[in-house]
Amino acid sequence: MEIRKIGVIGAGQMGAGIAQVAAQAGYDVVLRDLEAAFLERGLNIIRRSLGKLLEKGKLDQSAHEAALGRLTTTVHLADLNDCDLIVEAIVEDEPTKLGLFRELDQTTKPGAILASNTSSIPITRLASATRRPERFIGMHFMNPVPLMELVEVIRGHLTGDATTQAVLEAARRMGKTPVEVNDYPGFVSNRILLPMLNEAVQCVMEGVATPEAIDQVMKLGMNHPMGPLTLADFIGLDTCLSIMEVLHRGLGDDKYRPSPLLRKMVQAGLLGRKSGRGFYRYDEKGNKIG
Ligand code: CAA
Ligand code: NAD
Repeated sequence: MEIRKIGVIGAGQMGAGIAQVAAQAGYDVVLRDLEAAFLERGLNIIRRSLGKLLEKGKLDQSAHEAALGRLTTTVHLADLNDCDLIVEAIVEDEPTKLGLFRELDQTTKPGAILASNTSSIPITRLASATRRPERFIGMHFMNPVPLMELVEVIRGHLTGDATTQAVLEAARRMGKTPVEVNDYPGFVSNRILLPMLNEAVQCVMEGVATPEAIDQVMKLGMNHPMGPLTLADFIGLDTCLSIMEVLHRGLGDDKYRPSPLLRKMVQAGLLGRKSGRGFYRYDEKGNKIG
């Protein structure tokens, strides 16, 4: 199962990062979003990241140009028809993902592997929207994709060995270390990470400490590179809430109940770094203000 061309759907922070590392690894990449403006925003994320790598000497000028040269963008799903692997990175919403996979299954070549970068939704359930569950898999990159080494690889109930091997190999070629896990809500990464972030939000709500103090405790006391509220803002509070809802519903235990403050902030449009305001405020480049 040779992978040459990769389609990435969703040009947000994750899709842009995945498209970037795939192009850096030498794959032809086509990145798809719903509107030209979203694609331009994704391309800007990629240009900024490649620029930083170039500045630091982690990439030379020719590799920088070659990576950008291997990348095309489109708003048409049909432009992904000849891809060998398609990685979906759209919003963390099950009905939206199911609709997209149903459509992809009709339009892409029968041999193509369909992968989801979902943070939490069971892969077996997403695969059931297609007639190719043996070629369906979870390929969960971490944020920020160009810097984080892990790819969590999740086999659905019917995922085939050849699909798993092909995806493990592609992840390694992108410079990542894949770790295989089984299909449960939130997998390993977010079953452990998100309850911690949710608890930090609950501490704000109960007045245990300010967001700054909570973040400092976890940075200085536990050596975390980012405090939990900075990290929640970085992931996106809408995505954090969706993940908590999947854990709560899927595992049926109230210990996964989303914090009411998290829910309220999402309802108010405070989504974190991507909307300019969450627990902290951000400028248009995503840098913290104040
Ligand atoms: N591309 C290229 N280079 C980048 C970059 C990017 N996207 N982002 C930052 N950099 C570079 C910076 O330019 C900087 O370079 P120098 O050292 O030369 O200055 C370097 O990386 C470090 O960046 P910063 O100084 O800005 O910040 P930092 O030291 O805090 O490191 C970090 C940044 C690697 C993101 C670090 O803060 C970190 O590891 N944070 C935790 C991230 C994390 O937990 N990710 C997982 C989220 S959960 C998830 O992904 C799963 C899910 O489903 C929700
Ligand atoms: P985001 O909000 O930054 O981007 C989502 C993008 O998908 C947007 O550009 C949107 O226009 C686009 N989109 C929505 N529906 C679409 C469709 N039908 N076709 C094409 N594009 C569509 O979100 P994100 O943070 O990049 O997250 C994307 C996925 O990756 C989610 O499933 C999320 O759970 C997962 N994930 C997120 C993180 C994180 O830290 N943010 C980490 C790992 C995995």
